[in-house]
Amino acid sequence: MKKLLTIAASAVALFGLASCGSSTEDGLYGAKISKVDVSDITFVQKGKLTVGMSTDFAPMEFIDTTKSGQDQFVGADVSLAKAIASAFDLELEIKAMNFDMVLTGLDQGLIDIAISGYSYTAERAASYLPSKCYYEEGDGGQVYIINKSDTDTYKTLEDLNKASVKVAVQNGSLQEALTSAQVPNCNMMKITNLDDAIVQLQAGTYNAVCCALSVAENKVILDDSLAIMEEALDAKGYEGNFAWFNKKNSALQAATNKVIDEVVANNYFITWYDKAVELQLNLGDSAMEIVPEE
Ligand code: ARG
Repeated sequence: MKKLLTIAASAVALFGLASCGSSTEDGLYGAKISKVDVSDITFVQKGKLTVGMSTDFAPMEFIDTTKSGQDQFVGADVSLAKAIASAFDLELEIKAMNFDMVLTGLDQGLIDIAISGYSYTAERAASYLPSKCYYEEGDGGQVYIINKSDTDTYKTLEDLNKASVKVAVQNGSLQEALTSAQVPNCNMMKITNLDDAIVQLQAGTYNAVCCALSVAENKVILDDSLAIMEEALDAKGYEGNFAWFNKKNSALQAATNKVIDEVVANNYFITWYDKAVELQLNLGDSAMEIVPEE
């Protein structure tokens, strides 16, 4: 039954997209991006901009399972990556990686830029160069997704703060840092993929999954058995989103910042974000599958 529903959801999504017209095809939804000269910069692959991301974070980056190859990577961050590649006149190649491997991909020379809904943290800035902020999440917030049936059991951070409570956090994420600091006594489980973690939450393996509010909201809309715990983490100062570069690559950082200036000045990211939410809700379950590793 679930399969049938998924296929139906995909069909709706396909028709929905088909009727949107072709201007959305480039993933830029009408954004006009000026060229930036990058002739002095060496890229990981000649003629390409290689961007690493963990595609389990809709609406920022996720998988459209109705598509294949590079076309399956969708979301607001993917539009940003497309804008940067277009400014540089390079072909975009997205590399889907586990979240905890993306930044190290910069060290290993596997990717040119890490874009993955990253917050700014001092630890990251010690090892990598940040871009300018390209998106402010408004009141942002970091929350816990729980099973709706547990809404009376888990209301406050204190309710989670016990060794008997299993709280899943993405390895290497801001959520890991905030949970360690603010819910120090829970049984913190480090996971690699957020979509997997939600499945495990529903199976009872975890009691809560830590996640950005913007990501949690749509998961809860799509799945009636999930809820957002009442009390949120204190995440002030972590509302911005940043791309990261290898410390040796300040030229690429500067070139990317030029594109980000244009994106911010024209509110393009807001449009991309809204389009990504629309697509996520259209795709429903079928967008929630796990990326096959290359
Ligand atoms: N904003 C959080 C951080 O910076 C979570 C990002 C998770 N991104 C993802 N694509 N899974 O750590």
